[in-house]
Amino acid sequence: MKKIAVLASGEGTNLEAILEAAERGRISAQVVLVISDRKKAPALERARRRGIEPLHLDPRPYRGREEYDQALLAVLRRAGIDLVVLAGFMRLLSPVLVQAFPGRIMNIHPALLPAFPGTSGVEEALNYGVKVTGCTVHFVDEGLDTGPIILQETVPVLQDDTVKTLHMRIQAVEHRLYPRAIELFCQDQLRVEGRRCFIESR
Ligand code: GAR
Repeated sequence: MKKIAVLASGEGTNLEAILEAAERGRISAQVVLVISDRKKAPALERARRRGIEPLHLDPRPYRGREEYDQALLAVLRRAGIDLVVLAGFMRLLSPVLVQAFPGRIMNIHPALLPAFPGTSGVEEALNYGVKVTGCTVHFVDEGLDTGPIILQETVPVLQDDTVKTLHMRIQAVEHRLYPRAIELFCQDQLRVEGRRCFIESR
């Protein structure tokens, strides 16, 4: 069984969806690590409630991104992690980490990439006036939300949407899409050629 680490900075609703999918056997993998850069992230409590003692890795003692990522990498290696899942982890990973896990780091983004990358994808899509947005699960490379796309799904923007209502509907889709992408990885069904990610049948 593959070993997964989930990295989260915030609410942790995606973490929760992944943990639930694993508990129900919809993901054939074990979440062995939950790591947060923020001590007060509700994600930490969600992990505890499901029987996982999370790790708070505070960035403050480290001199910059690379040093922090070295520490992260040491933890991931020690645990024998196969797949790193970013679930609302609001830090850009340095090449140190990306190169250590080529094709083995996933991220979820609340917009249809390559549109609206970065930390305000929902707000920027709403303010731009798009009629359709959505979410994207992609492999992480060294850029900002630029890696090969694994799965995408659309979500319509409604007339009376606010950032909050739109984000809630996007997240409902994320909670379905992310476990599916993880399971495809676990079943070795994802093949990347250049920018394109193909899903192979079993
Ligand atoms: C998710 O909607 C995710 O797509 C977004 O943060 C939210 C985290 O929610 N990620 C990004 O914007 C990354 N650029 P959660 O903590 O409840 O899973």
